[in-house]
Amino acid sequence: MTEPGRFDADEQSLRAAVGGNALWYHTIELRPGVVTPGWFDLRSIVERMPWPDVAGKRCLDVGTYDGFLAFELERRGAREVIAADLSDHTRWDWLPESRASGPDYLAAIAGPDKAAGFKVAKNALGSSVQRVETSIYDLDCNRLGTFDVVVCGSILLHLRDPLRALEAIRRVCHGLLLSAETIDLALSVRHPRAGVARIVGSERLLHWWIPSLAGHRRMVHVAGFAIERSTRPYAIPFGRGHPPLDRSPLERTRRAFTRLVAGNHGIPHAAVLARPRV
Ligand SMILES: C[S@@+](CC[C@H](N)C(=O)[O-])C[C@H]1O[C@@H](n2cnc3c(N)ncnc32)[C@H](O)[C@@H]1O
Repeated sequence: MTEPGRFDADEQSLRAAVGGNALWYHTIELRPGVVTPGWFDLRSIVERMPWPDVAGKRCLDVGTYDGFLAFELERRGAREVIAADLSDHTRWDWLPESRASGPDYLAAIAGPDKAAGFKVAKNALGSSVQRVETSIYDLDCNRLGTFDVVVCGSILLHLRDPLRALEAIRRVCHGLLLSAETIDLALSVRHPRAGVARIVGSERLLHWWIPSLAGHRRMVHVAGFAIERSTRPYAIPFGRGHPPLDRSPLERTRRAFTRLVAGNHGIPHAAVLARPRV
């Protein structure tokens, strides 16, 4: 007997479904012993995020990818979870050089179907999370309603206009925003109080800006939120599926610095819990 809605195939079929998805972003335990080979593994840091009480609440996860944070909201007792993402990579904020290289180039960088992993995970977990296709910029309460809690993770750095994105979130957020973003540790150490960001312009990684710790807080503030809680830097560990790491001396030094400041190996992040102030 399986729970209603739960993936009722045997373990071999589930493993085949996991193997059939060419790229897993998230490491998700779908069943004891069946874990997706994600690029990133949020399991050990999820408790470091400043979660509000989401029990009985209507929640939104923006830029969900394989859905790890949306499933976490559901696990924490949310009444309803909407997982928003933009699978159509032609609508992502590409740098001008990337777009000029043509559609085949963009498709190769963007990777395969962005929704495939979410579907496998949703089935396997017997989840009720609903995935909707929308750009963060187009979040609209007439279409999606409003939310008690909005979670937005590791996406602002991929956007040319992160403040417009935060303003769009504010339109649908009537309660709390949990914003968990990549930060630049060196900038954070050098400018502990100033709201600064590094303009990256990385074509392959689609990175526009990476703020300092204070820069991330400032971005959330100027987009119309009051910050209630915030974390110290933490690092999101690489998962089993991540491509081999760059072993150059510069990258090794960067990784040692991350371990020193954030406490572990991975991509430096910080998170805030904030409430619309206007
Ligand atoms: C780095 S992943 C973050 C995954 C997840 N939120 C997390 O924190 O682990 C970035 C996600 O943003 C999505 N994305 C990129 N541009 C977007 C846009 N304009 N609107 C909505 N989602 C977008 C991508 O499809 C991808 O799922």
